[in-house]
Amino acid sequence: MKLPQSPLSGRALAAGAVAVATLMTGGSVAGSASASESAAVADAPDIPIANVKAHLTQLQSIATANGGNRAHGRPGYQASLDYIRAKLDDAGFTTGVQEFTASGRTGYNLVADWPGGDADQIVMSGAHLDSVASGPGINDNGSGSSAVLETALAVARSGYQPAKHLRFAWWGAEELGLVGSRHYVDNLGAADREKISGYLNFDMIGSPNPGYFVYDDDPTIEKTFKDYFAGLGITTEIETEGDGRSDHAPFKNAGVPVGGLFSGADYRKTSAQAAEWGGTVGEPFDPCYHSSCDTTANIDDTALDRNSDAVAYAVWELSQ
Ligand code: TRP
Ligand code: CA
Ligand code: ZN
Repeated sequence: MKLPQSPLSGRALAAGAVAVATLMTGGSVAGSASASESAAVADAPDIPIANVKAHLTQLQSIATANGGNRAHGRPGYQASLDYIRAKLDDAGFTTGVQEFTASGRTGYNLVADWPGGDADQIVMSGAHLDSVASGPGINDNGSGSSAVLETALAVARSGYQPAKHLRFAWWGAEELGLVGSRHYVDNLGAADREKISGYLNFDMIGSPNPGYFVYDDDPTIEKTFKDYFAGLGITTEIETEGDGRSDHAPFKNAGVPVGGLFSGADYRKTSAQAAEWGGTVGEPFDPCYHSSCDTTANIDDTALDRNSDAVAYAVWELSQ
């Protein structure tokens, strides 16, 4: 699922950078040395779908052991956060937990920084980690949480040192109305908000009857995702199932460029969409949305794999 080098412009670097890029990724560099424009760009890794699914299995086990959910203020949320944080700490991230209160219970955001890069240009990626109380929340939003985690771990594995600073976040209490992400944005000063070059949001990216939706916000971020899917020969649509219904909204409202991916919730797939993407006409993209059946069985592996690879592609492309 690895995309050939895309012909992005303005990326020419010194020839010495070619060897570094090759070394870092273990991948091939497109073209000859004279093709310096593309050769200098470090390739994003192919995110192993098995690793992403292993995280989903763990989140499912956590829900099962904690009353069937991973909801705000419940033990399944804390256990989910502990699982993700331990992986990040082991990989060399600097992690922090931000507390807030929602509906009389303490909530937690997890934020992980990858050391290095320009602190005035931050590429931030995030996903909400809480489920609704009525189910384990594996597509919503174990999928985004696991893809962002595995992308962060891929950064560490490859020793990627981009020009920009990388930050990853897992939000609490999204299901109570974007509470955790709003708390984070509200507590950033204006100066810190301006340092975020872009926020990428991933909420539901493995829907069992999937669509391929790209947020229609910042043009550069949107183009990066569209280029990725174009390279796979997959048609995307603009996300219209509720603009502002996820954690990018507080960032957008604060003037931060945002983007993201979505594979669909309770809207139904049209015949035109089924013609493009396969799947079942007239069925919801996710028939188990906010239900007890949002388990590890409620995932389309191909959609999860493509979208996870797209997360890494965008993080790499937008940070160098
Ligand atoms: N954020 C919603 C949830 O967690 C899901 C959702 C609905 C969504 N419409 C969206 C996510 C559009 C991203 C974009 O329940
Ligand atoms: Ca992959
Ligand atoms: Zn939800």
